[in-house]
Amino acid sequence: MIGRREFLRNSVLGMGGVLISKYPLAASTTTTDSRIEILLDEPLGVVSPNIYGHFAENLSGVIYDGIWVGENSKVPNIGGIRKQLVEEMRQIKPAVVHYPGGCFADSYDWRDGVGPASNRPRRTNFWEGDEPAGSPARHKYDSNQFGTNEFVHFCRLIGSQPYLAANLRSLPAEEFYRWVEYCNSPAGSTTLAETRAAAGDADPFQVRFWGVGNESWGCGGNFTAQEYAVEFRRFTAWVPKYGMELSLVASGPSDDSYDWTRGFLEEITRKGPDALHSIFGLALHYYSWNLSRGRTSDWDEGKGDALKFELVDWYELLRQGEVMQSLIDGHWQVMGEFDREHHIKLVVDEWGPWYRPGSEATASDILEQTPTLRDAVFSGMTLDIFNQNPEKVAMANCAQLINCLNSLYLAHEDKFCVTPVGHVFKMYAAHQGGQSLRTVFSAPSAHYERDGKAASFWSLKGSASLHEKQLVLTAVNSHVSEAREAEIVVRGATIQSASATVLTDRDIHAHNSFAEPDAVVPKDQPLVKGPLSKFVFPPASVTKLVMSLS
Ligand code: AHR
Repeated sequence: MIGRREFLRNSVLGMGGVLISKYPLAASTTTTDSRIEILLDEPLGVVSPNIYGHFAENLSGVIYDGIWVGENSKVPNIGGIRKQLVEEMRQIKPAVVHYPGGCFADSYDWRDGVGPASNRPRRTNFWEGDEPAGSPARHKYDSNQFGTNEFVHFCRLIGSQPYLAANLRSLPAEEFYRWVEYCNSPAGSTTLAETRAAAGDADPFQVRFWGVGNESWGCGGNFTAQEYAVEFRRFTAWVPKYGMELSLVASGPSDDSYDWTRGFLEEITRKGPDALHSIFGLALHYYSWNLSRGRTSDWDEGKGDALKFELVDWYELLRQGEVMQSLIDGHWQVMGEFDREHHIKLVVDEWGPWYRPGSEATASDILEQTPTLRDAVFSGMTLDIFNQNPEKVAMANCAQLINCLNSLYLAHEDKFCVTPVGHVFKMYAAHQGGQSLRTVFSAPSAHYERDGKAASFWSLKGSASLHEKQLVLTAVNSHVSEAREAEIVVRGATIQSASATVLTDRDIHAHNSFAEPDAVVPKDQPLVKGPLSKFVFPPASVTKLVMSLS
């Protein structure tokens, strides 16, 4: 029996056929079973675009094949970067991308990935030991063709900010300062600025976000919270700034490890409360992986299948996912014991479902899984949670962008598809920068059988944000077979017109693939003029309503 923490520490070392007919926008007076009340006078804070962030680790097919195909590839590319990925990502307003890991980061020497590509060394990838026999050499041995400059070019192409993860386990602090110097020192100012310029990037990259170690309780060094805090203090006691404020993210807890949060902050504040001001965020990682319904806590045994699942597994995954809210609240409370004014925010820089192997679109890609409608509903629910916690969560990064866990995209050579999760990100982008509003959902629960006992789960939840006179409401209906007809009330305004986008399918296992890339796509419903008072949310769906207010 090994848990996730142990696994990572050691690593360092049909149901279907629910028919969907039409679920129209309604201004009628038919019966409703649910109510959504949006409270204009109860703002929660601005929805930071950074909670719509991504994570791209140098792991199996994520970078090589997923993002980087190389300049000489037959796959259409922009300077070596997969063109179709760039075009898709531009549509989702990806505010920030975390790279190069994950566990990989604490084994990475950034110097290997800079300078002339032909001179870059080939290194053993952190994940080499997990790669099955027969997996491509590029998964095990890193050619370093994709390094810092290539990553920053990728970010620029898609309109993102880079969030780099520095190696705290196996490189000295000086190398962290040098990487900052390489990225941020002014044109012509340092030898490293000249090395950067020789690769075509004279102007500094101005990288603001830096992770200092990753999962330092496990693959990132196997530290105690106190030991890590001492390392963090040493790494960050002096970092060159080049006139810009750096946002440093400390390696935080996994799941509900409140002891880590407490131990880290206890040690950090031992030298006085000022230390808190140097920390922008505490990373929280939470994967929803245990679908065993309490039968085991074994990391391998507890996982479910991405594609072949029963109705009970649909709800079980959502149950696991909604824990996110209590983790945010729990860690926030502990953080408040040491940081009364809450200078430090949570950075949920790894989140998503994690299934057992078996649903890979490309057999040799480890950790790759095929997202279904279930993962779309899960992701909508999670983004709604982040939208509702703007004061606590400063950034979040879905794990991982492409060819991995809960991916938005799957790609192999010239094949590509957007997953249902990718479609959810496209829909939810409308929230970015809006004022999050308290929104009260009231709806009958979904009832189902869980190991011979009656169980229930909420059926309708979501979030709302205001953009001047435009209101964006997103909601998931978790019920696998019942629509929810909800009265929509905006306290303090009238809805003048509305349009809807709905992602659903008659089969809860529905997913996209290279052969059928458009099996699950969102459908737009026409704009309704005149006051809107209700909406029918289809079963097993993710919905976005955009409403004009007066
Ligand atoms: O996302 C895969 C791995 O999960 C990351 O490398 C690690 O940080 C996490 O445990």
